[in-house]
Amino acid sequence: MLEDIYQLLENNFQETVQIRRHLHQHPELSFEEVETPRLIAEFLGNLGIDIRTGVGGRGVVGCIRGEKPGKTVALRADFDALPLQDQKNVPYRSKVPGKMHACGHDAHTATLLSVAKVLQEKRHLLEGNIVLIHQFAEELVPGGAKAMIEDGCLDGVDAIFGTHLWTTIPVGKAGFTSKAIMAAADRFEVEIIGKGGHGAMPHETIDPIVIGTNYVQLLQQIISRSVSPLDSAVISVGTFHGGDAFNIIADQVSITGTVRTFQEETRKAVQVKMEAILRTLCESAGASCHFRYQPGYPSVINHEQETSLVQSAAKEILGEDHCFITEPLMVGEDFSYYLQEVPGAFFLTGAGNIQSGAKYPHHHPLFDIDERAMLHAGKILAAAAVRFLMEKSERK
Ligand code: NI
Repeated sequence: MLEDIYQLLENNFQETVQIRRHLHQHPELSFEEVETPRLIAEFLGNLGIDIRTGVGGRGVVGCIRGEKPGKTVALRADFDALPLQDQKNVPYRSKVPGKMHACGHDAHTATLLSVAKVLQEKRHLLEGNIVLIHQFAEELVPGGAKAMIEDGCLDGVDAIFGTHLWTTIPVGKAGFTSKAIMAAADRFEVEIIGKGGHGAMPHETIDPIVIGTNYVQLLQQIISRSVSPLDSAVISVGTFHGGDAFNIIADQVSITGTVRTFQEETRKAVQVKMEAILRTLCESAGASCHFRYQPGYPSVINHEQETSLVQSAAKEILGEDHCFITEPLMVGEDFSYYLQEVPGAFFLTGAGNIQSGAKYPHHHPLFDIDERAMLHAGKILAAAAVRFLMEKSERK
């Protein structure tokens, strides 16, 4: 059956490319998606797949019902774009100024639609159901995943699989890990309120720039002294603003930045430490402060059994030596919420190709993919779903 499915995906590949290029030309930003979910719903509806629209806001969920009863497995693809000007010179570049599919979510969507088409055609062979989760707003916290889960997209689902196409991995390869694959991505904002004054008379002021620069130094000490060397974390200060004139001591400084962690305990500990250091520094200097910590998505933590299932499917498709254990990435992904609810695996499908120009990192104005990655991702996702249902029915 799997060989048949692969063949059908190959036969449909031109259509997959067309869908991706159509979406690429018509990107929609997170929480503003209208035409994209409409296109998805129409495509799935035309195949005779049961769909639910407006899930959690703008999501679309389809369900392929196998002819025999069994477990239910979900596949997820996100569909939002980014506020970026497309600078590529290709016929399918974005037609919307300032908006661009610079993360490959157009390709995720086209891939899952093609997988849906083929699995719907083969549903008489399926033991169990396949839920198709087309998710809106992955790029922008709070994201679409959480809202879709609250609206029931995982009801009755036993496992979930998803992939991200990745251009720093050459097309034809795929990366897996049974542990954390993406980090928790949080944001912080700090204000230090001192007492301004003449630059010649610092003793009459409380200098927030001196406190702030100390704080920035001490933040890195949290990483080196408070986080286990076997774990990892990043604190990066992105902005530091204060002062208006060269000879005046500022009265206020504001600092913003991002924190990336994998372990929930580390995430919490870093946050607590950041606030404690700030308060101590400010208190000892007589300054006051505000500390705001905005949690982003939790880290994406894979489940072992499902990872080994999808990895062995990928080895058959891409070849043993094209599947590797990936290091975790420090970027965030709201696939984490699905994996907090049901077992599953998220993996990276290589989409890079230096010759074809698919060599830019994600969120870059020249970002593009090698479209063959969609075929690889589609085969692996379809195989994971089918194999999951088969294995579970055998165990019954
Ligand atoms: Ni993305």
